Amino acid sequence: MSVQQSDSAAVLARLRDVIKNDPILSGFLSAAITGTSHAARAPQAAPQAAPQAAPQRTKTGRPGAERSADGVLVCGKKEVMSVFANVDGNCTVKGYGARSAKCFGEFFLGLDDGPEDRAQSSAINAAISALTGPDGFRMGLEHTRAALAVPSDPPKKTEDVSTDMLAGVAAELFGIPDGELITAGKTGLHTLDHGVCPGDCAPLSGYIFRPEPDEMITRYGPIPGHLLLEQTKTLIARARAAASKPAGILTQVPFDTSPPAQDDLLCRALVGVMMGLLPTADGNFVAAYDELHGSADFITARDAIMALGDGVDFDGARAVPAGPVCAAMQESPQPEAVWRTAAKDHFIGDTNPVAVKAGDMIIVSIENATREDLSAGIQDVSAIFGGDRSATPQPLHGCPGFAVSMGLLYGAVTAMLQDAAARQG
Ligand code: HEM
Repeated sequence: MSVQQSDSAAVLARLRDVIKNDPILSGFLSAAITGTSHAARAPQAAPQAAPQAAPQRTKTGRPGAERSADGVLVCGKKEVMSVFANVDGNCTVKGYGARSAKCFGEFFLGLDDGPEDRAQSSAINAAISALTGPDGFRMGLEHTRAALAVPSDPPKKTEDVSTDMLAGVAAELFGIPDGELITAGKTGLHTLDHGVCPGDCAPLSGYIFRPEPDEMITRYGPIPGHLLLEQTKTLIARARAAASKPAGILTQVPFDTSPPAQDDLLCRALVGVMMGLLPTADGNFVAAYDELHGSADFITARDAIMALGDGVDFDGARAVPAGPVCAAMQESPQPEAVWRTAAKDHFIGDTNPVAVKAGDMIIVSIENATREDLSAGIQDVSAIFGGDRSATPQPLHGCPGFAVSMGLLYGAVTAMLQDAAARQG
């Protein structure tokens, strides 16, 4: 056994102890695994649903921002984008760093502007930003078609297609799941023998991104973070030992550009990026397709995609899914909210300025901002990505995967429409 593998075995043994010594967590997990409680009826869905479905204090009738018991709720589009831009350095993302430190360690999303953030994020963010809408469309189309091609009786639900599609996308981008240390699938209530991708990212992402994660996510969310980190470290250590490139185009970039001494940091960044992208892509895809499927526009969209033929590409297809996908995302965005901590006393909002105190939690209600645009007839999903990195001022933590993600969603919806047409026959 290599040093890395024996270290990982020790970490996983400690995690098993954590579960064993936490009566609430071990009761929940063992009941779900052995099938002795309500959780067992949906063992995959229980922890996954929690970070995405539990209501948050993100809705308000008041424009702009409002004070809440322990912080400030920011809800106007203008105010939300201003928090993302953070021109005056009013807010810090160190809270993300503190939470991720409890899961898989810190990475650049938990760092404020400065040389350390740039050093950690530049190469991988540039590689992600270089992925285009057409790249995403090709991945969404191919991996959704592959997911649909596996026979299933009853037919797969959108969420099952999404799991398989995203496992394929993650394998292409990160070499994860590798099928051994990390397998493909939904959130696993597993025995900590192996990670599960994309599923393990959902409770982890819920723990870090949700302003106020519920008790079960607070207990459960960090565990898959430790697990994914250890398995990723083993994958990278194996590639170094074999003097070979790891799989995954986005894993290869930091692998080639950073020294082996920084592999721990490299692995934290990879887990962090996967944790950020997979649950959000999943939530937006499922919401967008299911919304379209149930709407009066479905037949029109299906027929328009069929008219484009099998060789459909991004430029030809995007006009069909763009309207319904963006509207569904604006109605039910994932993430519905993210958060910051006030770095200093300041005011948010022009019309009814709210006084913010240093240390306040700032809950950024993406959902309010996107619904504000939707009701004004404006198609803009940039708030769902933490802002648009091509905008001035550039939001430091805005998603570099914005373009590739929209292509991915359009490609996946296109494949679903083609499949619906083929089955209708
Ligand atoms: C529908 C899909 C996606 C959504 C909704 C989404 C959403 C977000 C959001 C909201 C943030 C900012 C969080 C904050 O400021 O609090 C973010 C940051 C980030 N996202 Fe995404 N994302 C998606 C897909 C992706 C993809 C495909 C990748 C990579 C392949 C990616 C990589 C990143 C990275 C690296 C950051 C942090 C950037 C930095 O701090 O420098 N995301 N994303």
